[in-house]
Amino acid sequence: MSSFLSFVSLFLILSSCYYTLIDGVFSEQPSMIVSTKRMEKTTHLHFYFHDILDGSNPTAMRIISPPNKSVGGFGTTFMMDDPLTEGPEPDSKIVGRAQGMYALASQHEMGLLMVLNFAFTEGIYNGSALSILGRNPILKKVREMPIVGGSGIFRFARGYALAKTVWLDRKSGDAVVEYNVTVSHL
Ligand SMILES: *[C@@H]1O[C@H](CO)[C@@H](O)[C@H](O)[C@H]1NC(C)=O
Ligand SMILES: *[C@@H]1O[C@H](CO)[C@@H](O)[C@H](O)[C@H]1NC(C)=O
Ligand SMILES: *[C@@H]1O[C@H](CO)[C@@H](O)[C@H](O)[C@H]1NC(C)=O
Repeated sequence: MSSFLSFVSLFLILSSCYYTLIDGVFSEQPSMIVSTKRMEKTTHLHFYFHDILDGSNPTAMRIISPPNKSVGGFGTTFMMDDPLTEGPEPDSKIVGRAQGMYALASQHEMGLLMVLNFAFTEGIYNGSALSILGRNPILKKVREMPIVGGSGIFRFARGYALAKTVWLDRKSGDAVVEYNVTVSHL
C-alpha cells in the first residue's frame, strides 16, 4: 500500500514537471518545479545616452505641449530615438538606441516619467531589448529606474538602471547621460 502511494506521488511529481495545459491551446502554465529550477544570469551594461533636441538632426522631439496654465511645463511630452554609445563622445561606437517617451510628470519638481526600450545592436545583444518604466528626477545626481522586462537574451528581465547626466546644454536641453544597468534574466 505504501509503495503504491509513493508510486502515485512519484507519478504526480513527474507529471508536474511538464507543462500543464490549462485552457486548450490559448494558455499553458509551467509547474512550480520547472520555474523554480530556472537558472538566471546577471548582466551589467554600461553606456551613454545622447538626447539631442537641437540642430538639423534631433533625436528627440516635443510631441505634446501643455496648455498655458500648466505648472512648470507639467504634461510636456517628448518622443525619442536616442543613440546609445560605448563612450561619452557623440561619435563613439553605437551599441543601441533608446526608443520611447519621457514626460514632465511632476507639478512640484523636475520629475520625468520614462517609458522606453533600450534596443541593442551590439554583438550578442543585437536584436535584444530591455524595457524601462520609471521615474527620473533629473536634478538628482544619480537616478534609479526599474527594468520591468526584456526580450531576446533578456527574456524575463528585471533589474535597475542608474543614470547620471555627464553633459548638459542648458539652452537647448541637449544632454549626455551615463547609464549603468544591472539585470537578471534567463
Ligand atoms: C498661451 O500663451 C500664448 C502667449 O502668451 C498665447 O499667444 C496663447 O494664445 C495662449 N494659449 C492659450 C490656449 O491660452
Ligand atoms: C544586427 O542584426 C541585424 C539584423 O539581423 C543586422 O542587419 C545588423 O547588421 C546587426 N548589427 C550588428 C552591429 O551586428
Ligand atoms: C557606473 O559605474 C562606473 C564603474 O563602477 C562608475 O564609475 C560610474 O560612476 C557609474 N555611474 C552611474 C551612473 O552609476
